[in-house]
Amino acid sequence: MPVETLVWVGDRPGHVRMIEQTMLPTRFEELDVRDVPGMVDAIYRLAVRGAPAIGVAAAYGMLLGVQDLEGLSGLEMMATTREVADTLAKARPTAVNLFWALDRMVKRAQSELDGGADGDAIRDALFDEAHSIFSEDQHTCEALGRHGAKLISEGGTYLTHCNAGALATANTGTALSPFYEAQRQGKKIAVFADETRPLLQGARLTAWELMQSGIDVTLITDNMAGRVMFEGKIDAVFVGSDRIARNGDVCNKIGTYSVAVLAKEHGVPFYAVAPLSTFDRKITSGDDIPIEERPPEEITAGFGRQTAPDGVKVYNPAFDITPAHLVTGIVTEVGLIENPTQESVEAVMREAGIELI
Ligand code: MRU
Repeated sequence: MPVETLVWVGDRPGHVRMIEQTMLPTRFEELDVRDVPGMVDAIYRLAVRGAPAIGVAAAYGMLLGVQDLEGLSGLEMMATTREVADTLAKARPTAVNLFWALDRMVKRAQSELDGGADGDAIRDALFDEAHSIFSEDQHTCEALGRHGAKLISEGGTYLTHCNAGALATANTGTALSPFYEAQRQGKKIAVFADETRPLLQGARLTAWELMQSGIDVTLITDNMAGRVMFEGKIDAVFVGSDRIARNGDVCNKIGTYSVAVLAKEHGVPFYAVAPLSTFDRKITSGDDIPIEERPPEEITAGFGRQTAPDGVKVYNPAFDITPAHLVTGIVTEVGLIENPTQESVEAVMREAGIELI
């Protein structure tokens, strides 16, 4: 694993130790999170970010909220579990992994309650569930890497956007996992990383973690992606996703849609790499995905330096939707969905035992 993005420290009581990603790449600092407001703050500030990592953080956040409760009835523990989940759900709106993880924790508590468990037994079950979410994400990243690496050729050059690597998951990442796996298989590859305005997750995080791993990475600004494709430098694009609709529309960091349009124009394959926990079983179109809007200062005074006139109007959506028809394939832990359509995406979800609602 290139870096350990977040881990649970200790047994019970314990706490979460995470890389403070807002400090990278100039400072490597770790942050200990010990309560629910601290976890909401860490997720909102992007101290921990990236869809799967947000899911794990939410599950561990639930533990922070219930770990000190002793001797409650099953019903009392269930009420607290729901309350903590509701609080954590407000941290960020777009990455569905947050809601997926909270939902899974609440469902586990409910099934323990239905089986007659008291508060302490429900709490213990929640610990079990959160650790499973963490370790499943680790295995999922490996599977994404294995399936994705089949699309990577010796000597190939690939473009990625934002950070969908180790820093965004509990292991090697989503979109960057195929690169790490290709490297492990001895393939020599090169990666262009979009800097990814406005918060520069590509420059600060992707460039940093690929350099740590010895993968040949070249940083470009977002508006250079068209130029490098025009020059024939890019063999394929790999991005992660924060939410995928049942029709295959892919939501990811703002700027991904522009990259997909450019890729289509230049005949470059465009792949999204995402675990099934990123597929939203409730929605059939990207139009239904809530897009987070972040504060104007991220654009007007990013990283503390004012770069726009006082009082200028700003629009700062953090994500966009790439329609399925621009997506060559979605790499999941169970394999590649080529030219995704509602039929093919739903078939994979059903086969994985995901109940569509
Ligand atoms: O705002 P962020 O940094 O949480 O956005 C992250 C992304 O958009 C990633 O590309 C996405 O989560 C991919 S999954 C690792």
